Amino acid sequence: MSKKSSRARNATGVKRPASGVKRPVTTVCRCEEATEQEIRQAIRAGHHSLEEIKRVLRTGMGHCQGRGCLRIIARIVQEETGIPASEQKMPMPRPPLKPLPLGMLGRWQDDERGTMNDE
Ligand code: FES
Repeated sequence: MSKKSSRARNATGVKRPASGVKRPVTTVCRCEEATEQEIRQAIRAGHHSLEEIKRVLRTGMGHCQGRGCLRIIARIVQEETGIPASEQKMPMPRPPLKPLPLGMLGRWQDDERGTMNDE
């Protein structure tokens, strides 16, 4: 089993260490460097939706726009609150949906028609 899949299993709670065993630090949102422990603390502080957790920890606001973390966080919310992951609302996406090279934005007005000139 790879190290990566072992971490994901810990984050989803499928495989938990025995009580009294120090849990490793598991980064759930790699883009914003939010750990499983920070997410659980936010949930225990009363932030029970993905949108609220996003506002507190910036999860889902990174380079991948939540593609790498939101489903895992939904599972953690399910564990902590009992709210099924399938019933949780995904946070409102904020543009840009995908990262853009800055040079592409700089060329936006270069074209006389005002359209993007992507050479
Ligand atoms: S892993 Fe969370 S925003 Fe990319």
